[in-house]
Amino acid sequence: MKKVFIQTFGCQMNVYDTGKISALLGHDGYEPTRVMADADLIIVNTCSIREKPELKLHSFLGDALKIKRNQDRPVTVAVAGCVAQQEGDKLLKRYRELDLVFGPDAVPRVRDLVSAARSEAPGATRQVLDTKFLDLETYAFASDLDPASKGQVGSFVTIQKGCDNKCTFCIVPTTRGKEVSRPSEEILVEVRGLVANGVCEITLIGQNVNSYGLKVPGELTFAQLLYAVAEVQGVERIRYTTSHPRDMGSDVIQAYRDIPSLTSHLHLPVQSGSTGVLRRMKRFYTRERYLEVVAALRDARPDIVLSTDFIVGFPGETDADFEETMTLLDAVGFASSFSFKYSPRPGTPALKLLKDEVSPELAQARLMRLQERQREISRELNAAMAGKTVDVLVEGTSRYDESVVCGRTSGFQMVNFPGSLDLVGQTVSVPIIAGFTNSLRGEAPL
Ligand code: 5AD
Ligand code: SF4
Repeated sequence: MKKVFIQTFGCQMNVYDTGKISALLGHDGYEPTRVMADADLIIVNTCSIREKPELKLHSFLGDALKIKRNQDRPVTVAVAGCVAQQEGDKLLKRYRELDLVFGPDAVPRVRDLVSAARSEAPGATRQVLDTKFLDLETYAFASDLDPASKGQVGSFVTIQKGCDNKCTFCIVPTTRGKEVSRPSEEILVEVRGLVANGVCEITLIGQNVNSYGLKVPGELTFAQLLYAVAEVQGVERIRYTTSHPRDMGSDVIQAYRDIPSLTSHLHLPVQSGSTGVLRRMKRFYTRERYLEVVAALRDARPDIVLSTDFIVGFPGETDADFEETMTLLDAVGFASSFSFKYSPRPGTPALKLLKDEVSPELAQARLMRLQERQREISRELNAAMAGKTVDVLVEGTSRYDESVVCGRTSGFQMVNFPGSLDLVGQTVSVPIIAGFTNSLRGEAPL
């Protein structure tokens, strides 16, 4: 057996791709290892969404190439993911000992790529590059199940790749190409396979799930796909991410009335509370429209828990624009949010707006204010859960204390409560005694 070490940075798409890479390489005798120095093949699956995650690649590669240099057996080093797609050949030129660079579209071809790139002499290198984009007709989604899904409570299932939106800040359309929907039959086969492996929570993933299927005549819509997944025996919970507020249709909102296994949590990235900023981001919705979607969702599912993403300091963002983001945060009462300072990305349309750049200090001050207010709101919402009893799908024991288990509510709140490993995979009723910024504490289940 050969050993493969895979380091994953970035979003759920990358986590999923890593699972597929590991499943595919399993056919060639590679088994996963957690110790990089033991590996015959080291892969780093990279993210380029902002500058910070992109920088992680370079320190990681330094370590990986040092291992390759110092072993007396052949070690292959590969860069995958969004930085691989974006930088391509430049990476091979910069790191002469790097063996392989392949983009997200090349994941299904990883077995051939690794065998082409692998040198049998220690320290030798044959540089191989694959950053080809495939289109609707030629793209095939890998069907092998991630071996790590066995025994897991939840699993991701990809339903589309790429993105046809043109949000001006975003690099994803450049790194992951045009949107391609995965045939619904294949999705359902994967869901059934995962359930047979013991998985009971399915998270459908894509860059813009609401536009699923729309380009393919006769394909299910996203809402129809939700109903179809809910029909699969053994699927207890369905989650999905990521949604675009513009495409959040009434059929998906209706699904919250009809499908009990569709969880009461939605991540709906708003980015900004100012219609002017949203226009410059080319998000194609207004602040008012976003609030209407939220109201419709709450009407359909009164206990729905909302989370979001914010970008602060987008070029041209005035104090008044930022105040609108702050008031939107309060108006919606997001349970949690990810917030970032705008980070200029190569080749994105927003680079043209940089003459109106917000100073790094001002952007930082805005970010701190937003995050502080978010923590207060999260704490208040979680504290208000005390005294309620919630259904928790148990995921595992606490890292710090084996007599404490953790799991999530339908609304995605993390709950810690007394219990043991045999509860993993079960849904139990837990009385909540306290709520903190990021989690709830419960008593032993009823
Ligand atoms: N700068 C800062 N944040 C960004 N995001 C995407 N691109 C950028 C960028 N250039 C954020 C958005 C998105 C999340 C995944 O990352 O908020 O929803
Ligand atoms: Fe990062 Fe976006 Fe690529 Fe995911 S799709 S890894 S968030 S750049």
